[in-house]
Amino acid sequence: MVYDSGALPDDLVMLGKIPYVEKIMTARAKENSHQAKTWQPDSWQGLPIKQQPVYEDQAALKSVLRDISQQPPLVVPSEIRNLRKQLAKAATGQAFLLQGGDCAESFAEFNEKNLQDYFRVMLQMTVALMYGTGKPVVKVGRVAGQFAKPRSADTETIDDVTLPSYRGDIINNIDFEETARQNNPENLRRAYQQAGQTLNYLRALAKGGFSSLQNIGKWNDEFIRNSRQGKRFEEMVSHINECFSFIEACGLDVRDVEKLREADFYISHEGLLLDYEQQLVRRDEETGEWYACSAHMLWIGDRTRNLDGAHVEFFRGLSNPIACKVGPSMQEDELITLIDTLNPNNEAGRLTLISRMGAGKVAKHLPALARRVKQEGRNVVWSCDPMHGNTIKSPNGLKTRPFNDILSELRQFFDIHASEGSYAGGIHFEMTGQDVTECTGGAQAISDADLKNRYRTHCDPRLNASQSLELAFLISEALKGQ
Ligand code: PEP
Ligand code: CO
Repeated sequence: MVYDSGALPDDLVMLGKIPYVEKIMTARAKENSHQAKTWQPDSWQGLPIKQQPVYEDQAALKSVLRDISQQPPLVVPSEIRNLRKQLAKAATGQAFLLQGGDCAESFAEFNEKNLQDYFRVMLQMTVALMYGTGKPVVKVGRVAGQFAKPRSADTETIDDVTLPSYRGDIINNIDFEETARQNNPENLRRAYQQAGQTLNYLRALAKGGFSSLQNIGKWNDEFIRNSRQGKRFEEMVSHINECFSFIEACGLDVRDVEKLREADFYISHEGLLLDYEQQLVRRDEETGEWYACSAHMLWIGDRTRNLDGAHVEFFRGLSNPIACKVGPSMQEDELITLIDTLNPNNEAGRLTLISRMGAGKVAKHLPALARRVKQEGRNVVWSCDPMHGNTIKSPNGLKTRPFNDILSELRQFFDIHASEGSYAGGIHFEMTGQDVTECTGGAQAISDADLKNRYRTHCDPRLNASQSLELAFLISEALKGQ
């Protein structure tokens, strides 16, 4: 007789003395122990929590939070479930995840051009990756809500002046000045509104013709066109256009094919600020499941992933696809417990592990973790963030990331998964569509001295458009080899 989970007939439960039944029940009780604990959108409150702002004016905070809780959600469960299905394919090797965007979105850099440039580069990277991997690419932005930043220090000191650290525009202001650095609850409202406007525009770009593969030739921006990457992209475009001409010669109008005319694009951010996230949790009436509706996907940062902490508690009750950063301090047993807490039913597509070790550490730490996850049969998407473990200070004091270190971590990530027999299913970048000078190296050979020319990030150094596309081509080649 086979019993499905939770469906033991009452009479057998009463016969609990039978060893076989007892065994089933113990295993099941263990499996469901986390789920069995009641979860509510606020059940994280009261647990140890890190990286949260403290507000002086609690009444103002409460009023803003109440207001946000009554606003429309930014995304809805049916879309969130679609992303989960796409990610299930990335877990089993049938798709590839591309997640990218700003380290920190800002109020100052919010405009049409920046968004359009960003989206264009995401599309270009997608095509380069699809072309190389022959697999669908699941596009997820670090955008439309990526505002709150965990910081390594609570304060910052410049020339004997010490002020609270900048924690992202959703909390305070980057200017090094006392009032600017005060936590302002009104920023929460403004961030929510900007996220909504951003998403609205990105949805229009994804569905309204801009993303049509027919327009692919128009995606090459002026500054990329003249670069080596731009030329490469143009070559690829002409191959794709030849395919279209052939298909049209067969009598099929490619404009009629929705998949070629529109793109699926999803949004994500670090679910750091739980007071904010809680206000946008909704219960799906159809299924009774709880969803964070501030984004399709949320991730837990490397600094807030402790098992007994508030973030893990909040995330475990959501039905969204979620991710967790995995840095060099992660232990094997800890990772398995974390996976089982966040994905107790071992569903593919639910959990993405974003490895962020650093080029010098990935060979030491990742193989054992990948092996253990595989041995234990846990279904996850393994993605690589080659940014956060490779941040250094350049001689002029600016934070930077050498392009070669980023590439080296990516290459090692793919090699490690190939030798462990697990699928390297995605990449996670901090990037922008603008021609910034924040990461050194790449085909443009940005030097330490060049960094100050166009250093615009509100937090960590991002790949510029050309470097992003260059990486997409290099990865695409590496994956072709596999
Ligand atoms: C981030 O992705 O912006 C971040 C802070 O990363 P991590 O948690 O991996 O340090
Ligand atoms: Co960052």
